[in-house]
Amino acid sequence: MIFAGSHILSVEQFSRADIEQIFAVADSMEPYALRKRVTRVLEGAILGNMFFEPSTRTRVSFGCAFNLLGGEVRETTGFKSSAIAKGESLYDTARVLSGYSDVICMRHPESGSVAEFASASRVPVVNGGDGANEHPSQALLDLYTIQKEVTAKRGSMDGLRIAMIGDLKHGRTVHSLSRLLALYDNIEVVLVSPEELAMPERYVDALRSAGHKVVISSELNHSISRVDIVYSTRIQEERFESKEAADVYRGRFRLNQSIYTEFCQPNTVIMHPLPRDSRSDANELDNDLNQNPNLAIFRQADNGVLVRMALFAMILDVVGQVEAHSREVNWYHRRNGM
Ligand code: NCD
Repeated sequence: MIFAGSHILSVEQFSRADIEQIFAVADSMEPYALRKRVTRVLEGAILGNMFFEPSTRTRVSFGCAFNLLGGEVRETTGFKSSAIAKGESLYDTARVLSGYSDVICMRHPESGSVAEFASASRVPVVNGGDGANEHPSQALLDLYTIQKEVTAKRGSMDGLRIAMIGDLKHGRTVHSLSRLLALYDNIEVVLVSPEELAMPERYVDALRSAGHKVVISSELNHSISRVDIVYSTRIQEERFESKEAADVYRGRFRLNQSIYTEFCQPNTVIMHPLPRDSRSDANELDNDLNQNPNLAIFRQADNGVLVRMALFAMILDVVGQVEAHSREVNWYHRRNGM
């Protein structure tokens, strides 16, 4: 695809070659993300960061990625602080805010809302999550993490085995990730969820019709015994009618160190889009995994900055200029590694 000036709304936009291109640009962003160098390549540019659902990582890492490229960020968070609360349409909001920004990131509780907004926007729009539908930048950073954690050891993404666990019905991260994985060869996906929260059929069909193996299970321990990646997710409480309706499923699949030791292969990588629900009745990834070197969740979150920097640099067409606008940092920094 041509990235310059494009919206990023769905992972369906990407081919394998596009993904490789994004990942190569993401790699080149490392000196800036690690604060070894600063670049001002986006000096004067403004990101409109519009988050109408709770967000920590996605909102802040989009903002930091833009800042790290030298741009400024304007945020709107929550419906209450926006004129949408006065009945303004997505169309009008998009027409107005795209006049104030060079690129917009948007998260919204309704499926399809970000695409609707983008169709009225005068600048590129990046989908930061639209309801239970898609979360393309998360899927890219997940795949980038998988590539760094696993394929460096095994050579390629092809033949990867991954267990996706939890609320696969409402989890937009697993929806987008499964579509990206379908672009590779010979993937095995083990889908572990309560029956009522199963992965929607269209995603399962897409994997199977691309020749991949899909195993469906509602039992954790044996589902994680033959995989390279365990990708755990949170029960998406906000998509249920009530907290009580979500409570029924909370805590159904808990991974802790003793289960890991007993059932996983020694190098199985543990991922989660975060936030992990650490309340005692949920606790899908126990804190006793924090010392496990294969717990990749914080490296995964760090990788989000690299991937989002890459997307901005490609959408605003400055990839070739990043270095020319860079210099060493002035300050002492003691951050080691990503
Ligand atoms: C996810 C989301 O918002 O879909 N979080 C994120 O962006 N990293 C997953 C979740 O909220 O459970």
